[in-house]
Amino acid sequence: NITKYIDPGYLNTVSGHTRVSFVDGEQGILEYRGYSIKELAEKSTFIEVAYLLIYEDLPTIQQLEEFSKKIMNHSSLPIELRNIMSCFKNDAHPMGMFISAMSGLSTFHPEANPALAGQSCYDDPYKRDKHISNILGISPTISAAAYRHKNQKEFNNPRDGGYIENFFYMLHHEKGTDYQPHPVLVKALDVMFILHAEHGFSCSAAAVRHLASANTDVYNCIAGGAAALYGTLHGGANEAVLRMLMKIGSKANVPAFIEKVKNKEEKLMGFGHRMYKCYEIRPKIVKTIALKVFEVCGREELFDVALEIEQIALKDPYFIKRRLFPNIDLFSGVVYKAMGFPPEFCPVLFAMPRLVSWLAHWSEFLDDPNRKITRPQQVYTGHRNRKYVPQCDIK
Ligand code: CMC
Repeated sequence: NITKYIDPGYLNTVSGHTRVSFVDGEQGILEYRGYSIKELAEKSTFIEVAYLLIYEDLPTIQQLEEFSKKIMNHSSLPIELRNIMSCFKNDAHPMGMFISAMSGLSTFHPEANPALAGQSCYDDPYKRDKHISNILGISPTISAAAYRHKNQKEFNNPRDGGYIENFFYMLHHEKGTDYQPHPVLVKALDVMFILHAEHGFSCSAAAVRHLASANTDVYNCIAGGAAALYGTLHGGANEAVLRMLMKIGSKANVPAFIEKVKNKEEKLMGFGHRMYKCYEIRPKIVKTIALKVFEVCGREELFDVALEIEQIALKDPYFIKRRLFPNIDLFSGVVYKAMGFPPEFCPVLFAMPRLVSWLAHWSEFLDDPNRKITRPQQVYTGHRNRKYVPQCDIK
């Protein structure tokens, strides 16, 4: 009788070992490869963190330069993919475009398909690195194209420079101008990316490991991870929070909304987390970033609505009893809105850094000598042995 093993949401199912990040939800500890997220957010850069997460140790200056160079060398969009992206409707959700483009990229890399290139095509670290650079390099180019497509603007080609500077450039550069991103916004997005880069066996990282277990090529593993992230309970929560804040509209309307949440008529987006049963550090850091961004872009009114929600909910027995606290998404969408991003682009800004996690988990999974295809057991509760009696005249 396997019914006793049913574990919806995998609350008690452990699917493997990992060395990528440590999470202690009772104490609110998050470490990437042993380094506290707070220290990394203060002292590191997104690209250094990407290297750390994928290769386990901080890079030397030479390793960092080589890594950055390899990423930049793989940042151009193939013309066919550019054409595919320009065929989407102008109101296409940018995550749909991001996921499709990542999956589409697999068709340019038959050498990454175990069916064509052999089951051992990822054994060679050099080949694995090439795919890692491809994916990290092209992600800002795909994302910027998805952003510009909405406004029917021509896609920009990447240019040399830092990862985040280049992303801003591809988002906003117009022909004949000399676009330079604001350094405060570059730094703010870099730190936001560090905070979003990894979170253990999250729904999307687990999806990537699940796909990798079937020997799916890395580009479709990443597309699958992005699809899992897109959901509003995971990385799509930042968009859902913004839409919720816009619906609430003002601080005065917060108490009535909270009552609806307590009556289970609404869900409080940006609150609660499977892992954390305390006020974790990431939303606290996002609040400090928000203030720096507001100094450049002006204060975002919805920030005050989010602060009011936090204030009220943290004192309310409904949230106290269930140990529900703000998560990273409560304030991140507000930061992105202040920077000028529309709500639907916010999940892309979660996927871009999180794909570092997916690559780290993909690579770690491939190195696991005990890996097996993921195939949960089921308890069947449907009909058995039915006689086929036609219910209609099938021609
Ligand atoms: N608003 C209202 N009630 C909530 C919320 C919420 N945001 N989150 C959990 N609860 C209640 C839930 O209804 C349940 O109550 P009861 O015991 O009366 O049935 C109790 O708290 C336990 O919740 P759960 O759904 O069993 O918790 P979970 O660990 O399965 O879900 C979660 C975690 C993040 C999906 C959930 O808290 C949620 O839906 N939050 C809102 C969406 C959100 O902000 N997601 C972003 C997560 S952080 C970024 C990331 O890692 O992706």
